[in-house]
Amino acid sequence: MKKPVARFHLVLLLVNLAGGASMEAQLPADSHVDFSPLSENGFMRIAIADPGNHTWNLQVSHDLIFWYEFETITVHNGRFAKKLHVLENAPRSFYRLNFDHVLQTGESSLNQALALPPTPDNYALPSLPAHFLTPQVLAQDNTPTHNPVTDHGATLGRVLFYDKRLSANNTISCASCHQQEHGFSDPRQFSIGFQGEETDRNSMGLTNAKYYERGHFFWDERSQTLEEQVLEPIQNEVEMGLTLDELVTKVSAERYYAELFTSSFGDAVVTSERISLALAQFIRSIISTESKFDLGRSSNFSNFTPQENQGRRIFNGQGRCDDCHGTENFVSENVFNNGLENPYTDPGVGAITRRQQDRGKFKTPSLRNIALTGPYMHDGRFKTLEEVVEFYDSQVVSHPNLAPQLRNNNRPIRLNLSEAEKRALVAFLNTLTDPNLTTDPKYSDPFNYGE
Ligand code: HEC
Ligand code: HEC
Repeated sequence: MKKPVARFHLVLLLVNLAGGASMEAQLPADSHVDFSPLSENGFMRIAIADPGNHTWNLQVSHDLIFWYEFETITVHNGRFAKKLHVLENAPRSFYRLNFDHVLQTGESSLNQALALPPTPDNYALPSLPAHFLTPQVLAQDNTPTHNPVTDHGATLGRVLFYDKRLSANNTISCASCHQQEHGFSDPRQFSIGFQGEETDRNSMGLTNAKYYERGHFFWDERSQTLEEQVLEPIQNEVEMGLTLDELVTKVSAERYYAELFTSSFGDAVVTSERISLALAQFIRSIISTESKFDLGRSSNFSNFTPQENQGRRIFNGQGRCDDCHGTENFVSENVFNNGLENPYTDPGVGAITRRQQDRGKFKTPSLRNIALTGPYMHDGRFKTLEEVVEFYDSQVVSHPNLAPQLRNNNRPIRLNLSEAEKRALVAFLNTLTDPNLTTDPKYSDPFNYGE
């Protein structure tokens, strides 16, 4: 007869603190350990949340008296989890995670911390479809001559983009508010910063930021260049809350950055300027060229449904959308007041230039991947594209600065679209989604979280 096996031979996981008088006082700040049996027999999952990125020792015991070192686990970017497999006929085992503040190596090598490909991904020379190689599109490229996208530079930028060390308490990265699956935007109306406070505007999608000839960034275009913009969120007191000196100190302390800076810039010296260059390179590398719209460009949209083609004609015709969301990237050569409200709570460009005639003017955002980046407008007031279309159809408000393109006989435009035409316009906007963008590993989180 088979001997009955103890049903839970993995009964216990303790968090142990070496040499501590008070347990709480010794635990790394805000850390949290969790263990859960998995449905597969003999498996247990250990998850550590630890914004301080410490090294923990997993130890095993069969009698709760003698403990043996089982494995060292280092947290790389706030969390780490692993599955533990113990054989059925093994003796009853107890596990504990031991945290010893003396035994901190404080360093992770590149290969431990990151899951990067052995040769860097191709960021510098993406293969572009013909309609991206026209003189018009090339002229819109805002890449400065001193900061071309390189494979190593964009790789470094990718790591920085996902690294929570870029916030004061290691809880927020750029990607917290610019999420790949949401077209590098945030599904929240207002994003949450490092201390739980909300931003005062809706996060912006980052697709094809490179193809914006004006080269200004933010809803109010207050940053003159992308290189200037990328250091702003790091220093913003709601978003990430670091000074540039603190930033340089934190980034310099990580061994893997020494390697990444060396491949990008020739030596390991960390400066805020180099951080800005690398982040800008990564953002300019986020290019979307394989939406249904792109695939239809060469065949006069024979891949579109009749409804999508109807929507396309409305976009370029009766709807006058292309007057502002023009070009291959659906951007504009100007900022506009599109008549959302009067007066404007947020004066947009007007607050920067302090001119009456700029009140309520905002950057005309690209509509690429727009179906992924809701909610919409600078204040995220519209949840859906249906609401946006409804707004342009019948709700544009009178304002002294209202764009001429949105006026008819000097009154706010009324498109008078039928319900079917509105649906068609939304169907067209949906063709601007590029499914590869949300899944392309070269834009994804490169950190090693175990499992
Ligand atoms: C807490 C949320 C949050 C974090 C963190 C954050 N952003 Fe943003 N981002 C926003 C918001 C909100 C806006 C729009 C702000 C505005 O216009 O005033 C924005 C705008 C931008 C833009 C302008 C896009 C355009 O088309 O003009 C870029 C580029 C950008 N962020 C990059 C970054 C980078 C790089 C980081 C990390 C260093 C980062 N963001 C961190 C929320 C965030
Ligand atoms: C006069 C220029 C202009 C015209 C015409 C125009 N837009 Fe816009 N659009 C803008 C501006 C400017 C914004 C940002 C306004 C803000 O946030 O305050 C915007 C925002 C949007 C957004 C939200 C983008 C985001 O990332 O949140 C969508 C979607 C949109 N427009 C679609 C359309 C469609 C569809 C049409 C045609 C029916 C159209 N637009 C016509 C200038 C224009």
